Amino acid sequence: MGNKKRIITLCLLAVGVVFGIMFTNSCQHQAYVLPENLRTGDPTICFERDILPIFQSNCAKSGCHDAGHHAAGYTLDNYTNIMKKGIVPGNVAASKVWESVSMKIFGVEVMPQGAPALNATELDLLRRWISTGAIDSGACYTSNCDTTQFTYSGTIAPLMQIHCTGCHNSASASGGSLMDYASVKDAAVNGRLIGDIEHLSGYNAMPVGGAQLEDCQITQIKKWVAAGAQNN
Ligand code: HEC
Repeated sequence: MGNKKRIITLCLLAVGVVFGIMFTNSCQHQAYVLPENLRTGDPTICFERDILPIFQSNCAKSGCHDAGHHAAGYTLDNYTNIMKKGIVPGNVAASKVWESVSMKIFGVEVMPQGAPALNATELDLLRRWISTGAIDSGACYTSNCDTTQFTYSGTIAPLMQIHCTGCHNSASASGGSLMDYASVKDAAVNGRLIGDIEHLSGYNAMPVGGAQLEDCQITQIKKWVAAGAQNN
């Protein structure tokens, strides 16, 4: 009798364990992924113009998530690589990349490490890009670039913010700061700014690891410099 009881108890235990495992597994459901046919994208967001530079300037830096280093398994230098890990189309909350740039520990964003946090505009772009399917809408440049507009505050500073300050975020950064008027003006006046963005020989092609700025943007910067690189 004693043995029978023990066997029954063991059987019940075994069944319990099996159910337990099944139950736990059924709870580890896959994160929701937006079906491909519903990934419409946000018509105001252009991947190459608005999203890729955020990754290239803030994440794909040397020593971080560039092709040579891919820290923590993340290579964030082009669309294919960006989509390999950490972005769940249509599901912002399940996207680790989003979590890392928006989550704060003791008031400090986890990513980008040791550099300024993404600003509200960049976060909003990323969030909308992921939630509408994280698609590669290709190169849809020129739509918002106007060569007659070239003030520091309206054109140059936002351009630096999108394409350059992920790396050039302090005076001690490699290549110096492009965060404020005085430092951008310095680079403009000594000729490095234009030589670098035009990829002239003898200069360092900028942005490092990113696509060259579009012609219209280069024209805007050249016109601003030619007009005296004013703080306007
Ligand atoms: C991914 C990082 C990264 C991005 C993005 C980047 N730079 Fe640089 N930049 C560097 C590094 C690294 C150097 C130092 C190069 C060297 O000394 O070899 C540098 C140097 C420079 C210099 C210093 C002078 C020189 O020619 O060495 C200027 C000016 C410059 N960058 C402009 C820009 C501009 C303008 C942009 C945006 C359009 C930009 N950079 C985007 C990494 C970056």
